[in-house]
Amino acid sequence: MKMTRQQKETVQALQWTGDALKVLDQRRLPEHIIYDDCKDANDVAKAITSMRVRGAPAIGIAAAYGVVLSVRKHYAQSNHWRQKVVADIDLLAKSRPTAVNLFWALDQMKATLSQQSTNPLAAILACAERIHAEDVAANHKMGELGADLLMGAKGVLTHCNTGALATGGYGTALGVIRSAHRRQALNVYAGETRPWLQGARLTAWELSQEHIPVTLIADSAAAWLMKTGAIDWVIVGADRITANGDVANKIGTYGLAVLAQQHGVKFMVVAPTTTIDWGINQGDQIKIEERDAKELLPDCYLEEESIVSAWNPVFDVTPVELISAIVTERGVVLNPATGQGVRGLK
Ligand code: MRU
Repeated sequence: MKMTRQQKETVQALQWTGDALKVLDQRRLPEHIIYDDCKDANDVAKAITSMRVRGAPAIGIAAAYGVVLSVRKHYAQSNHWRQKVVADIDLLAKSRPTAVNLFWALDQMKATLSQQSTNPLAAILACAERIHAEDVAANHKMGELGADLLMGAKGVLTHCNTGALATGGYGTALGVIRSAHRRQALNVYAGETRPWLQGARLTAWELSQEHIPVTLIADSAAAWLMKTGAIDWVIVGADRITANGDVANKIGTYGLAVLAQQHGVKFMVVAPTTTIDWGINQGDQIKIEERDAKELLPDCYLEEESIVSAWNPVFDVTPVELISAIVTERGVVLNPATGQGVRGLK
C-alpha cells in the first residue's frame, strides 16, 4: 500500500531514501529542523534510544526500516546474513521497552524474513513500506471516528505529542483533533508534558504549522482548566493497550484521567490496533520505562556528593474504568470497562 499525496501532507518524521532512513531530530524542534541519516540498524536503534524518533507507531516504523538497512548491509556480504539480521533485530528490540508497536513491527519483519524469497531485500522493504502506509491510513480512519465523538464539543485537552511526528503521518489523538477541526470550531489545549516537553515543543509546533490554534498549559494547570468547564474531552494516544482496555501512555496521562472523572470530562484514547498487546490481560503487566535521572535534575544536583536524586518513569497506566472511549481503525469501543475491554476488536 503506497501513501497518497493527501496522506503525505503532514510533517514527515521518517523518510526512506532508498539507502538510508532520514530521521527528523525531535530533540531539536521547534527551533531546528534537522534530519539525520541512519545508515544501519545500529543508527536506528540509537535514534530511538536517544529520542530523536519517538512516539509508539513511529518507533515501530523506524525499527522496520532498521531491519531493511540490516538486510541491505548483510545480504550480499555473508552466507550467515540471516543470523546477523536477527542480531540487529534483537538490538532494535532493546531500544525502548514500553511501546508495543516496536515489538509488533519487528515480529512482522521476522515473519517476512522467515519466508523463502528470491529477492529478500525487496520483500523486506515492501513489508516496512506496508507497515508505514497502513499506519497513516489507520490514523485517517481514527481521525474520522474520533471526530464523530467530538461533535458539539467546545474544548479538548491533549497530552504529549501524538501527531505526525509520533506516527507514520497525521497522528492518533492529534489526528482526531485535525479531523474535528475541519468540521467544527474547537478550542484545543495542550499540556506541556514534562520533562521532555513533547506538548510544548512538538504538539504546539505541529498544530501551528497547520494554522490550528492551540493554547499551551503547564501540566499542573489541567485540574483548574477542567474546573473552569472549558473542556469536554481529554484526548490522548497510547503506547500499549492491554486486552482488558488498560492504557500505558506518557507519564501524566493517569493523573489526567483521574482529574477528568472528578470533573465530568470524558476521556478518549486513540491508537491503532498495532498498539494493542493481546498477550497481556491488564496494565500491571506492562514494563514501564524509567529514564535517566539526568533528564530531570538541574545540573547543580549532578555532582557526585549531591543528596538530591530523581525518579523518572516516563509512562503510566490508566485503568480502563477511567476511559470513556478507545478509538481504533477497526472501530470505537465505548465505555470499555463495561464490556470485554478491547477483545471484540481482535
Ligand atoms: O516518550 P515518547 O515521546 O515516545 O512517548 C510518546 C507517547 O507517550 C505518546 O503519547 C504515544 O506514543 C502515543 S503516540 C501516537
